[in-house]
Amino acid sequence: MLKEPQLFDPLVRDLEGNAHIVFPPGHPGHADAAYQAHRDMVVAAALSHVPGTPPPDIVYTAQDHACWQHISQALLPLQRQHAAREARQALEDLALPTDHAPQLADVSWRLAKLTGFTFAPAAGIVPLAEFYGSLADDTFHSTQFIRHHSRPLFSPEPDMVHEVLGHGATLASPRFAALYRQVGAAARRAETRESLKAVSRVFWFTLEYGLLEEAGELMVYGASLLSAYGELSGFRDMEIRPLDVQQMVTQPYDVTSYQPVLFAARTLDELEDFLGAFCSGVDGDTGSRLGVTADQKW
Ligand SMILES: [Fe+2]
Repeated sequence: MLKEPQLFDPLVRDLEGNAHIVFPPGHPGHADAAYQAHRDMVVAAALSHVPGTPPPDIVYTAQDHACWQHISQALLPLQRQHAAREARQALEDLALPTDHAPQLADVSWRLAKLTGFTFAPAAGIVPLAEFYGSLADDTFHSTQFIRHHSRPLFSPEPDMVHEVLGHGATLASPRFAALYRQVGAAARRAETRESLKAVSRVFWFTLEYGLLEEAGELMVYGASLLSAYGELSGFRDMEIRPLDVQQMVTQPYDVTSYQPVLFAARTLDELEDFLGAFCSGVDGDTGSRLGVTADQKW
């Protein structure tokens, strides 16, 4: 069975302070020295990026391009079948290539014209406060590497396939982009670790894993589902619940496997009302009010 993104951070620094990617055993790139060296190069480009400038151009390998082609051609029919209308339109507007990996700077330029959002390069896992807070400034931190070519339908980390084919599908929609901004503003007001976790969990069960009804059918708008071949094929088999903040912040989940519980909005309007009400009410006490504890996993 496929497993979907697992948020470990493979970025480490050597004694000279140089950043390297180290994959744990079992990672598809673990024994591939050339892939590791390539990933180090992508990380170095992100670390030397000057904020406010476009993401650096990456020299993608033939294997990267082939991998992008494989996954995007596998996902496209599923996205056409299962993605919510706004997400399908956003993907059409983004006009992503299917035969080669795009440069993040090009995608970011098109995204900016559609909704004002831009992609900023991420060398590794971005701290929660920075990741969510920057959404208020129309900035989405994105990795630029492509998953290992040996398993094109699997990535143990959020790669550019997830960021662009998943998040891009909603960041390029004006209505969804507005929701990302509201989450960003809420994160800036969160003040405490507990409240920030509450924001993170609501984001997880909406903009990462959310569903909404269209003409009586459940459709996908969550980036993790939209970018995961296995989950996009089988999400209707999961337990599906109505939107509920309390359940979202306390529902246990495992980032290393499929999400057994998903939350569906009856309409996009309902999702906007739900997220708008939650986000506008976030303050330093939100987490403790909802029973989120500082040591709670995620
Ligand atoms: Fe994501």
